[in-house]
Amino acid sequence: MIEIKNITKTYKTGDIEFNALSNVSFNITDGEFVAIMGPSGSGKSTLMHILGALDSPTSGTYFLDNQDVSALSDDRLADIRRDKIGFVFQSFNLLPRTTVLRNVILPLVYAGIHGIERERRARKALFAVGLDEGHFFHLSNQISGGQIQRVAIARALVNNPSLILADEPTGNLDSKTGEIVIGTLERLNKELNRTIILITHEKEIAEHADRILFIKDGKLVEDRTNHTKRSVAL
Ligand SMILES: Nc1ncnc2c1ncn2[C@@H]1O[C@H](COP(=O)(O)OP(=O)(O)O)[C@@H](O)[C@H]1O
Ligand SMILES: [Mg+2]
Repeated sequence: MIEIKNITKTYKTGDIEFNALSNVSFNITDGEFVAIMGPSGSGKSTLMHILGALDSPTSGTYFLDNQDVSALSDDRLADIRRDKIGFVFQSFNLLPRTTVLRNVILPLVYAGIHGIERERRARKALFAVGLDEGHFFHLSNQISGGQIQRVAIARALVNNPSLILADEPTGNLDSKTGEIVIGTLERLNKELNRTIILITHEKEIAEHADRILFIKDGKLVEDRTNHTKRSVAL
């Protein structure tokens, strides 16, 4: 589903050019759970922005579901994001003082889905991440960090995206809560066969994926199958 070929991303600050990514190539097939790992400043977020159609590479090609998305207009990139990609960020960005259910319904409002169907899908996504009726009408500022992040995952899931991108989703959480969030992603991968790309600088988190791509100084330095995959029992 994903084919990245010779992607380079150059940032220009005044007269100085800097390659945040240099000649990165890899493929990811449907249903894979892949971690992208690397130290701070290695280019992880830059790569995630390209994968998520939030930004375009300076050169190289990116095919998503056989469509070339490397050189689309901003409007077309927005369509790709809406139709194909679910995002989970480190900073959860739920709407404050808004119910859990409403937070998950919102992307469907923008996608033009009608009322009853919106609510049905939002409930299903919340159940899929292990939240039940008892949580639906809590306000987003009245729930725990782990629950917030699960709502964020439900929200990323509700449009039925083919790809879920999670950038440091456990970054702000204690390790136990982080495990629950990772377990939720694992379950979406295993039970709903979602393709997941998990970006992290933490080895223990990356160990939950089936495959780990290592980037360093903007280059892909290793691409390995994870034979010692860890799993969380929820
Ligand atoms: N908009 C930008 N302009 C200039 N340099 C940038 C910009 N965004 C990121 N960088 C630089 O690119 C490198 C990679 O950044 P980033 O992709 O955020 O890494 P990571 O997510 O792995 O920490 C860093 O050296 C960073 O300073
Ligand atoms: Mg980053």
